[in-house]
Amino acid sequence: MTVQESREEIVARVKERADIVQIIGETVDLKKSGARYLGLCPFHGEKTPSFSVHSGQQFFHCFGCGESGDVLSYMMKYHNLDFPSALKELAARYSITLPEKSRSPEQEKQEKARKQMFDVSKKVSEIYSRYLHSSSHASAARQYLARRNIPESIQKTFGLGYAPSTDSEGWDYLSGQLSTYDREAALEAGLLVKKENGGTYDRFRDRVLFPISELSGRVCGFGGRIIGEGQPKYLNSPESPIYNKSRLLLGLYQQKDAIRHKNQAIIVEGNFDLISLVSNGCENVVAPLGTALTREQLRLLKRFADEVVLLFDGDVAGVKAAIRSVPFFLAEQISGRVALLPSGHDPDTFIQEKGLGAIEQLVADAENLPEFVFNQLVEEFGLTLNGKSKIVEELRPLVKAAASPLQRSVVVSHFAEQLGLSSQQLDDMLDKPDAPPLPEEPPFERPEPPIRIEDRVVPLTAQQKRLVNFMVLNPECLPKLESGGIRECLGGSIGEILFLQLKALRQHNDEMEPEELLSVLPEGAERKYVADLLFDAPDVASDTEATVAEVEELVEWMSINTLKIASRKLLGEINKIATTSDFAKLQELLQEKQKIDRKLQGLEI
Ligand code: CTP
Ligand code: MN
Repeated sequence: MTVQESREEIVARVKERADIVQIIGETVDLKKSGARYLGLCPFHGEKTPSFSVHSGQQFFHCFGCGESGDVLSYMMKYHNLDFPSALKELAARYSITLPEKSRSPEQEKQEKARKQMFDVSKKVSEIYSRYLHSSSHASAARQYLARRNIPESIQKTFGLGYAPSTDSEGWDYLSGQLSTYDREAALEAGLLVKKENGGTYDRFRDRVLFPISELSGRVCGFGGRIIGEGQPKYLNSPESPIYNKSRLLLGLYQQKDAIRHKNQAIIVEGNFDLISLVSNGCENVVAPLGTALTREQLRLLKRFADEVVLLFDGDVAGVKAAIRSVPFFLAEQISGRVALLPSGHDPDTFIQEKGLGAIEQLVADAENLPEFVFNQLVEEFGLTLNGKSKIVEELRPLVKAAASPLQRSVVVSHFAEQLGLSSQQLDDMLDKPDAPPLPEEPPFERPEPPIRIEDRVVPLTAQQKRLVNFMVLNPECLPKLESGGIRECLGGSIGEILFLQLKALRQHNDEMEPEELLSVLPEGAERKYVADLLFDAPDVASDTEATVAEVEELVEWMSINTLKIASRKLLGEINKIATTSDFAKLQELLQEKQKIDRKLQGLEI
């Protein structure tokens, strides 16, 4: 008799066999760096790697977004699986047999019902598509699509269909095409509707149908546009065990490769906007199903692209929709931009009239979501004190949605700068619902545009680079380097910023790992520098002897260098004084410089 393994034992066995580096390596490009592997985090958009995988301890951690876990949680998060499915997937991969899982009869029933609904949805989509392309009663529908310039190839790609009108086929066409067995499922999926006095009628009549697929390609619902005028213009499948509109995106199944390829997803509002863009060559598009964008939809997109561009109508509704979506972008850590269409246009009419290039230009010029929101709020409330308080009110839910303290601080400092406040001031106002009034002084001036790091820093000399690299890779040597004058030696460069960050980090934890720097650096030049460095760093099996020698060498270089800096600085002051007649001061400075230069000579020999 075999003893059934407990669930814990099986989980442990799967985790033991599964290699986290191999599993994650299938979806993330990992490079060895020291005892870890580094790569671009699949859970938030980033350009520089802060995602690290520890093969020894078999866990992953992202210093950028804070995601972490073991091989099972990775499978769950990356592939959107629940725990049992992740376990099953991994067990299958490593040929571990799982004991038959015991499902309750209720679960079995639900599972079977769902499968029937998927099956019937597929059949129905084939029935309606065949009808569109071959029935004589569908000529108006075919003409309608032709008039809207939807080529047959696109109709096929999206599996478009036509549900006949009651004039040609009566109210009960569909059930006549289905077996008794299928009718039950069609009813549950809302394709048939129960009549009060028994019997059923077709939900969709005289409409062009857009089948809606899940990511796997299984049809789970439909959206139908009336031919010509009529109400409602669009009718969609009702919510059902297989159709949840907030978790679906029209076009994602068909366009996901284009989205992945461009690393960008464009979201349009309408079904025809979607197919019209695709048929005109703008392929990285999806459309929500007549609802505001949801967090689940963004999470889906995040698996394929780092950036989402909202391409909305320029009316009030479009703007509001964009603003409402900000919390989801923040929470999912995906970067968003917004492009509004000129009034009177939607993406469909725009691309048909102006062409692909014009749409591409709009998308290229799309404004960053946070900036867009801010500008809209300024337009609405103005930048008077009262206006600013109102803007802060509007920002509160947006900031609250930030996914991590780091992200919150990035968002706060972004908006604070725009509002002419310090981050601290804005933080305080956001924390307290009854915020103290803004200080009356000074009058508001539009702040200078933020200085980009790239413009601010002086480039590193080769020797400084050596110093910075050593400092980053050996944070434990920071105190030695600091007393050797590292800050002066790196003054004004990227290295000084890194030094200050490292110092702050070490105050919390003097055994910090180099990668932790990535968790405090926002996207930008410093972060890229560190990431590249960590990425390329040789396997540093910290050779203490070599490290000690290197510190000594660097400290020596720094002492020479600080003297040189001091000497140069004195020379500058001497030159200035020389034009005045303050001889006493001049004398003093000259003596000081001589002293330094003598020291320098001694050292350099
Ligand atoms: N929508 C819906 N139900 C409605 C109206 C609209 O589900 N009663 C959804 C549809 O997906 C539609 C989108 O919202 O495509 C945008 O609607 P709208 O701007 O009114 O229409 P268009 O997409 O421009 O429709 P068309 O071009 O076919 O006139
Ligand atoms: Mn339209």
